Amino acid sequence: MTPQTAATLHPPDAPDLDPTDINPAFAAQVLEGLSAHPKHIPCTWFYDRRGSELFEQITELNEYYLTRSETALLRGLRAELSRLPAGAAVIEFGSGSSRKTPLLLDALNAPASYTAIDISGDFLRQSVRALQLRFPRLAVHALEADFTAPLRWPAALEADVREQPRIGFFPGSTIGNFTPEQAVRFLHGTALFLGPGAHLLVGVDGTQDKARLLPAYDDARGVTAAFNRNLLTRINRELGADFNPQAFRHVARFDAAHSRIEMHLLSPAPQTVQLLGQRFTFAEGETLHTENSYKYPVAMFQRLAHAAGWTPHQHWLAADADVALHWLRR
Ligand SMILES: C[S@@+](CC[C@H](N)C(=O)[O-])C[C@H]1O[C@@H](n2cnc3c(N)ncnc32)[C@H](O)[C@@H]1O
Repeated sequence: MTPQTAATLHPPDAPDLDPTDINPAFAAQVLEGLSAHPKHIPCTWFYDRRGSELFEQITELNEYYLTRSETALLRGLRAELSRLPAGAAVIEFGSGSSRKTPLLLDALNAPASYTAIDISGDFLRQSVRALQLRFPRLAVHALEADFTAPLRWPAALEADVREQPRIGFFPGSTIGNFTPEQAVRFLHGTALFLGPGAHLLVGVDGTQDKARLLPAYDDARGVTAAFNRNLLTRINRELGADFNPQAFRHVARFDAAHSRIEMHLLSPAPQTVQLLGQRFTFAEGETLHTENSYKYPVAMFQRLAHAAGWTPHQHWLAADADVALHWLRR
């Protein structure tokens, strides 16, 4: 399907929607994904303000071991992380709430600056304001950007950062949301963005235990289900669609062959949805695939890092889960 531009989009059922307010990348990817078989939408679009808030609630669930394990791991690595270069520019990819960031900043020697990169703009700015209060003397910047596209330094930052050692930080196992090919592309992009001599710390979940994985992505209170359905609410609001989010069931599946958890929205009955002048039909039991979370054991992740031009330097494993922090160098 040819991606449409904002100028050609005429949502017939949403008179309040101004076509010039439509994000063309969002519209194109949703139209393309709903036209495909199987239907799919990239998980990046989960993160409007509400999506970011719901993700924060997920991180506090008992079932969601990832945040707890990675936070405990970082807390125990203070001495190890202090071996990273002093006076560094710290750059976090997909920073979200930046709640793990103080554990890194406190461990480093006199970091010079912190730049948080996230696609969820309002939430990013709010998180960065809170971090600035905690580190009043640190130069703190928010960069609202899509990290799957080539990243560019704002002119005002570039000169400073070029003079400083650079430490990238990519926690939360967000790397697992990429296919292996996309992960290599992303890691290669970070290598180019951070430049020669850079360091990169990546949090990676390698859990293969289905009994632990499934509840983490389908919790008893239904927070993950609400997070998944919020994508449909967002499509309704921003693209003028008429999804009934409650008419879709949240489903989490483990695909052992691909070592990944998948999240889907399943239509229990046939239904039709209108979006930007087009109709999309869901058959009974058909799903919309909304997220992959690949689970990379240590050796598998190291191969991806190598392929992207990074050298694995060291890694540490959490005490209570197969959650690792990898230190890569260029
Ligand atoms: C799984 S959450 C992890 C948040 C946080 N780093 C943590 O460890 O809890 C993924 C984060 O990446 C951001 N994100 C997702 N896709 C993105 C993209 N294409 N470009 C920039 N940020 C993105 C989301 O807004 C969200 O904050």
